[in-house]
Amino acid sequence: MKGVVFNAAQEAVIELFDEDTWDDLLDAADVDGVYSSVGSYPDEELVAIVVAASEATGLSVEDVLVAVGRKALQHLASRVPTLIGGCTNAFEMLGMIHDVIHVEVLKLYPDSRPPEFTYEDLPDGGLRMGYRSPRCLDALAEGLILGVGDRFDTELRVERHPISGSGEVYLDVWEVAAEQTQAA
Ligand code: HEM
Repeated sequence: MKGVVFNAAQEAVIELFDEDTWDDLLDAADVDGVYSSVGSYPDEELVAIVVAASEATGLSVEDVLVAVGRKALQHLASRVPTLIGGCTNAFEMLGMIHDVIHVEVLKLYPDSRPPEFTYEDLPDGGLRMGYRSPRCLDALAEGLILGVGDRFDTELRVERHPISGSGEVYLDVWEVAAEQTQAA
């Protein structure tokens, strides 16, 4: 995984807790924690840090990934300001991840392996993002999606549905305010 993701995770942990917490997590994960944004580091190090965070907070590993992803999105987004500057809403930005944002990521970091996303509109106004990655970081993806909502002051709801045997996870996304209007 590229160092830029570790950097974003570090900034997320410092924002959620503090610098000492990040240092404690590195100690607990038994990693040296020096990550250059363009470097590549073993996925296992990110997993070890997330597991350490889970043990330290009592949150499940999945909940840590969601929380870290949500904060980390703002730091990742600051890497590609011109790409997303024109976005006017959360769904527009979500629609750009696969064909625009991660394509640019591949130019910036040629040895990176961003996940695959497909898109499908749901009949009730939601968006279905089909996630595929050997890393199985769909909980991180959920957090990143919620972070996109935060950028636009839009509360989103995400449901994750693993599709057995296919390696794909559906990430179904709705805008909470739109659901409430529909229900009224
Ligand atoms: C907005 C700016 C974004 C930037 C600059 C960015 C950049 C990156 C980079 C550099 C990686 C690491 C790939 C590697 O190390 O091989 C990555 C991975 C990933 N990105 Fe993005 N990303 C962005 C937004 C998003 C959003 C909104 C989502 C939400 C669905 C997302 C989902 C993921 C996931 C889940 C991974 C983990 C790798 C995997 O699952 O295989 N990204 N991204």
